[in-house]
Amino acid sequence: MSEHVRLLFLAGSAREQSFNKRLARLGADIAQANGLPSTFADLGDYPMPLYDGDLEAAEGPPETAEQLKNLLLVHQGVFIACPEYNSSITPLLKNSLDWVSRVRAEDEPPLQVFKTRVFAIGAASPGGYGGIRGLMTVRQVLQIGLGALVLPGQVAVARAGDAFGEDGHLTDKGLQDMFKRLIEDLAVAATKLTH
Ligand SMILES: Cc1cc2nc3c(=O)[nH]c(=O)nc-3n(C[C@H](O)[C@H](O)[C@H](O)COP(=O)(O)O)c2cc1C
Repeated sequence: MSEHVRLLFLAGSAREQSFNKRLARLGADIAQANGLPSTFADLGDYPMPLYDGDLEAAEGPPETAEQLKNLLLVHQGVFIACPEYNSSITPLLKNSLDWVSRVRAEDEPPLQVFKTRVFAIGAASPGGYGGIRGLMTVRQVLQIGLGALVLPGQVAVARAGDAFGEDGHLTDKGLQDMFKRLIEDLAVAATKLTH
């Protein structure tokens, strides 16, 4: 894996005890342990108003959307742990992506920040399906809507309340290994796309 590639780990929940933040933090730890520089970022630190065209026309995108875009720009691979809300994407994640998609320099092609990075997705849920149904929507938004390359592999952590050990790792070794492989695949794909 390239030493030049940097990975960003996000979660579609800002909740303090969020299982998905736990998954994203674990991903960043796994990446670091494998020599990949990585960052965990909390979307709660990038608060944005609900997207509104009139607000955008009057004030432009919020500064936090520009900050989040800048964070994306210094990472080549992005993993997003996505809670499932009614089988779909969370409003927090969709709103953050929508605003970032509206931040554009005058000479910048549309959606460039998404088209020039590689994404991987996963989910954690207290339910039995681990949020896997919501990932279909997230995949659609990232891939079809924003033009991003999204790796076909994904992880879904079911019964998340019991899934993490005290060390923060997944107690199901097979699932932990699957997550590690996904992160390695993300790093390899990000290296190939961006170098
Ligand atoms: C509005 C709403 C809808 C939800 N719908 C689903 C669902 O469709 N499938 C599911 O597995 N969990 C669902 N949940 C439960 C979430 O998976 C659970 O709240 C989870 O802890 C949220 O992720 P977080 O821990 O990262 O905040 C829903 C929760 C909310 C608030």
